[in-house]
Amino acid sequence: MIELHTPDAALFEKTFRTAKTKLRNLIEKHPDFYPMYTVAGRWKHEGEPWTRWCDGFLPGMLWIVYERGLASRQSSGDNAWWRDQAIRYTKPLEARKSDREVHDLGFIFMSTYHRWFETTESPEQNDVLVEAGRTLALRFRNKGEYLHSFISEESLFIDIMMNVGIIYYAALETGDLELMDIAMRHCLTTRRVLVRGDGSTAHEGLFNKETGEFRMQSTHQGERGDSCWSRGLAWALYGFGTAFEYSRDARFLQTAEACADYYIEHTPADGVPPWDYNAPGPLLVDTSAAAISACGLFQLARLSMDRVKAVFYENVAHKIVGSLCRHYVATDAEEWEGILKGGVYHVHKDLGVAESVMWGEYFFLEALDRAMA
Ligand code: GLY
Repeated sequence: MIELHTPDAALFEKTFRTAKTKLRNLIEKHPDFYPMYTVAGRWKHEGEPWTRWCDGFLPGMLWIVYERGLASRQSSGDNAWWRDQAIRYTKPLEARKSDREVHDLGFIFMSTYHRWFETTESPEQNDVLVEAGRTLALRFRNKGEYLHSFISEESLFIDIMMNVGIIYYAALETGDLELMDIAMRHCLTTRRVLVRGDGSTAHEGLFNKETGEFRMQSTHQGERGDSCWSRGLAWALYGFGTAFEYSRDARFLQTAEACADYYIEHTPADGVPPWDYNAPGPLLVDTSAAAISACGLFQLARLSMDRVKAVFYENVAHKIVGSLCRHYVATDAEEWEGILKGGVYHVHKDLGVAESVMWGEYFFLEALDRAMA
């Protein structure tokens, strides 16, 4: 069970400055490179990607720094540099709006084109978002009522909860009711087959392709089909909160809260979870799951109908960010190129284990930014 403390504003500010330095170093050392995970703390290596889902996170971080600079009226020259870098790393992603190989278009476009659009309100960026939402919706299977994962048509991933938001977005922007229906059905199916009664989650659901019948829970990155992979839980916590924000369907708020409550009850006192709650020891944490959960908890603090719960969620989110800053941030002086240590990508394939991972960096910076708001 997580223990609470008063948030440390000075620590958050200092960590944000460290993050900016590391980001600047990264793009100066490896220009136009989109990293995924480190090997021994280094971003550039020959390790395999498994799937191409991370390209939005580096530009997304550049947008966060720029937005924070705007809010704090940072000197306009320095801030323009961050905006120019954000645009430079965002533009090459446009072609991915028609990418039918991945289920990750929400990750790629909500961190980039959506942040860009929020600063300009230009239809050009909005069109890209809508098209990416329409492309993702093509993964919908009427039999079974879900968006299938990149693995196969029989497979549904909990991770897709963090991507379905771009279909809601496209539906609301265009008034396309079919898109809205696809997003709703996907979330309802995921809630039914991947979220358990205690708020824990399974990574993958397998369906009968011919009949659409649900067959079983399974996993790729978790310990077992019946275990709770902590990053999957974090995707569900934040993803169902987002589904509620777009749809206002109270069932999704209830699911997000159930996942949050599982996280809070089962995570050690410092707020940083094991990579899988059912993995045998020794303890291996996943700081990226902590960072994503902190973002989801800040969101729930805003959305929850119960004000007491809302304050509690906000306090827990602050606690998680504080623990990450204190115990897992690689200092400027260290050789380690990443910001946040202790992330895990894929234990079974031995990819990015106890390393910095790009989504961990991105959601950590987002959480830090909210903690300082
Ligand atoms: N494939 C998404 C993740 O590793 O969480």
